[in-house]
Amino acid sequence: MNILLLSVGTRNLIVRYFKRVVGEEGRVVAADMQRIAPAIYEADSRYIVPRIADERYIDIVLDICRKEKIDGVLSLIDPELSLLAENEERFREIGVTIIGSSYELCERALNKMTMFRWLRENGYRCALSYDNLNDFYADLRDGKIAYPVVVKPIYGSASIDVLIVHDSEMLEMLFARHKDLMIQEYFDGFEIGADCYIDMISGELVSVFTKKKLLMRSGETDKSISFKDEKLFELIERFCDDSGWKGQIDIDLFEKDGEYYFSEVNPRFGGGYPHAYMCGCDHMALIVNNLRGERNEKHIGCYEDGMYMMKYGDVSVRRIDTED
Ligand SMILES: Nc1ncnc2c1ncn2[C@@H]1O[C@H](COP(=O)(O)OP(=O)(O)O)[C@@H](O)[C@H]1O
Ligand SMILES: [Mg+2]
Repeated sequence: MNILLLSVGTRNLIVRYFKRVVGEEGRVVAADMQRIAPAIYEADSRYIVPRIADERYIDIVLDICRKEKIDGVLSLIDPELSLLAENEERFREIGVTIIGSSYELCERALNKMTMFRWLRENGYRCALSYDNLNDFYADLRDGKIAYPVVVKPIYGSASIDVLIVHDSEMLEMLFARHKDLMIQEYFDGFEIGADCYIDMISGELVSVFTKKKLLMRSGETDKSISFKDEKLFELIERFCDDSGWKGQIDIDLFEKDGEYYFSEVNPRFGGGYPHAYMCGCDHMALIVNNLRGERNEKHIGCYEDGMYMMKYGDVSVRRIDTED
């Protein structure tokens, strides 16, 4: 079983977990545009590839798949998910499965306003969101929303440019200067991360790990604590059945007055996934089963609650040949 991981960056643990599950007979191949992406050195072989926006990119990835006899491929960054999904057929033709959701779903997740509209239309509690000042002011007048609010990029990631805004003066200044911003209801309670695996054969949600985020750093969960709530599991199950995600997804939710509100979805391994893995939710094994044509049984909530994750730094020091 050979797996190709794209845009691995600093996700060393993800590479390690895949290596563990494919064992001696399988290989993990990693690619990144940077030679100094530490995670590529964890893999059995590595490739430096162009930017994903480069028109040769997909052809190069397909070549790697042929050469390395790859069975399944996945990406660890948001903008690449749609690109892979869009080219799904070309991968299928050479026997490679894309471990991820459809193009339409990847695009929905990328655009936080599209996601918000879908959630509302389908009757889910979610953070009130606006992409224009008029709609926001109308709701402000009607008392449906109040300051402070969160202003962030519609296509944002890694918590970049997320601001808490307290008045219309600041709001108007931001909207005058920047494009593609959205306003969102501010939640001051705790944020929840759900690491989910939707079986690629049955389409059924088979594993969920939920954690309360205690501290975020550089857009990633830095400290978190595992918890379990049947009501939340049922909500996530309904959401996954309604939407049709496939493979690994990471859902962000907020809790307010005992209710859960959807915030966003990343259809890939989130930065806080090691917490789930270390608590026994080995989604790499579920992926490998699917790639072997085996369907996974449903095991929701098979982990201990009250387990803390505390991230810490590590370094990799090596000579890197920049000539070849
Ligand atoms: N409506 C909100 N209320 C409170 N905090 C928020 C809100 N939206 C975003 N944040 C904070 O900003 C972080 C990043 O926002 P998010 O919408 O998850 O975008 P992304 O992870 O794609 O950058 C969240 O993890 C949360 O800490
Ligand atoms: Mg997020």
